[in-house]
Amino acid sequence: MCGIVGYTGKKQAAPILLDGLSKLEYRGYDSAGVAVRNNAGKHEIVKTNGKLAVLSDKLKKGKTLKGTCGIGHTRWATHGMPSEINAHPHCNDDRSIVAVHNGIIENYIELKEKLTGKGYTFYSETDTEIATKIVDYYYKKWKSPVEAMVSFTLRVRGSYAIAVMFEDYPEEIYVARKDSPLIVGTTEDGSFLASDVPAILKYTRNIYYVDNMEIAMIQKGKATFYNVDRKVIQKKPVKIDWDLDAAEKGGYKHFMLKEMHEQPKVVTDTLNSLINNGRIDLSAARLSDDELRSVDRVRIAACGSAYHVGVVAKYITEDLARVPVDVDVASEFRYRNPVFGENDLFVVISQSGETADSLAALRMAKECGVKTLAVVNVLGSSIAKEADKVIYTKAGPEISVATTKAYSAQLIVFYVLAVQLAYARGKIDGDAYSRLIDEMLNLPSLISSVLSDDERLKWFATKISNKKDVFFIGRGIDYAICLEGSLKLKEISYIHSEAYAAGELKHGTISLVEDGTLVIGVITQLKLAEKSVSNLTEVKSRGAYVMCLTSEGNYSLEEQSEFTFYIPKTNAYFAPSLAVIPLQLLSYYVSAAKGLDVDMPRNLAKCVTVE
Ligand code: BG6
Repeated sequence: MCGIVGYTGKKQAAPILLDGLSKLEYRGYDSAGVAVRNNAGKHEIVKTNGKLAVLSDKLKKGKTLKGTCGIGHTRWATHGMPSEINAHPHCNDDRSIVAVHNGIIENYIELKEKLTGKGYTFYSETDTEIATKIVDYYYKKWKSPVEAMVSFTLRVRGSYAIAVMFEDYPEEIYVARKDSPLIVGTTEDGSFLASDVPAILKYTRNIYYVDNMEIAMIQKGKATFYNVDRKVIQKKPVKIDWDLDAAEKGGYKHFMLKEMHEQPKVVTDTLNSLINNGRIDLSAARLSDDELRSVDRVRIAACGSAYHVGVVAKYITEDLARVPVDVDVASEFRYRNPVFGENDLFVVISQSGETADSLAALRMAKECGVKTLAVVNVLGSSIAKEADKVIYTKAGPEISVATTKAYSAQLIVFYVLAVQLAYARGKIDGDAYSRLIDEMLNLPSLISSVLSDDERLKWFATKISNKKDVFFIGRGIDYAICLEGSLKLKEISYIHSEAYAAGELKHGTISLVEDGTLVIGVITQLKLAEKSVSNLTEVKSRGAYVMCLTSEGNYSLEEQSEFTFYIPKTNAYFAPSLAVIPLQLLSYYVSAAKGLDVDMPRNLAKCVTVE
């Protein structure tokens, strides 16, 4: 997904732009560029294909591009191949207007036809060049940047976070936003804009989130916000309490390793945001017990690992609270024309709060009049703003493309929701309620102990790093754990793996098991253990190499596996929080052993805001 940055102030812009873009690399991109207003008052544009380092080298880390006002961009190609010509910034013919954009202009063809009819020509395949020339068209018409941005906002369809410099308005940058994230920060030295917090956190903690259909003008030390009626609007800054190193690696080799080790703290912070004095408190989400009692069915939609949290939530919530739960991948849910009940609660899970499919599923549910709840990590994100109610995970910025700490934080939210639903609906008594809460509060220390037990996983990772196919098998909640373990391995080690309901393997897929096939059996749900063990026996008898992941005490399983990893005992409902840790670590060490780019795996992006 693209990243945009901008700066205007006392300092040289290019180094600040490059630094900001480097903090957005995690979003996934294939080319980059900057534009700076030089000392002659002209816009200089420099763009390169490939990684940011290519651009930085070309600019001698920004030294060769003089000027104190500029915009920058990392592009994740959506319209037009990755190339220098398609890279942003884009401009009008005389470069008096330059722009960077994150999002998709859906009516770009119609707009291109309109502009062509007005004599415009085009040099790239991008929707952004069209967007830039639409701004130019309206600027020529109104001779006002704000008017041009308002007309742009009213004329284009789609998603955008767009930043524009006008030659006639030195040291000012104009932005508009719809559905793609955009923040603004101001200091005495200068003002900043970016797609995400890490890009400007080292300069300021007071962040303004630009809302949909809002326009802003930033100049040195000041930001002015407008609505589409051209009215100046007052916005309150949000104080970002993330540590600076929270957006840096903090001494770890990779963001993923850092973020895995942040899980005890993240789980603690998320628990503390939902449990006060030993009791669950959902008032921040405005979710009362009456409302919880009124829910007839929970409908969950999400993508990737967030979807896997939804699968865990289904098993736990149905078993504990006796509330029906449906869970879908958002890209399927949004197109299958689901039937909603009037007392459904639609829940969307999203770390970034910007995933296009999840956002679309939320909008569909709202259009159907369903109550909506978002479980989101990023403050002020689109999904957070558009859902009726929000529960924030407290994972802080998650940079590594493969999620770990956000997944763990999301699990906590759904444990808490399941327990509160069960209690509010009289399915558990006060003692069970308190016991479950105590067991949740104990999870961070258990997670820490699993994290420290990684020596054997490092060894096992080197043994399996050449595997071509891996199966993760389990039943019930263990199957849900397998889904996440399998995705982790695929995402960062590029080893093909499948998560399979252990009881289903014999219906076809077991034909793939042969000598040396690695099968990882997850057995934390004791009431299903016996069945799962027999599934391990089935694959072992066909030559499989078996790793077993189980809880301390189940020592009888060792006969069935070449490698057994034990996690501490905890309530079966909460086992995913512990079982996922060795699977994260194993995947990490396999990827590291293969010398792969752990934090930015090929083809992947941290947040997919395109469909
Ligand atoms: C994928 C990420 O692109 O999107 C996954 O690589 C993530 O880690 C999935 O689980 C959903 O993203 P989000 O931000 O909606 O949770």
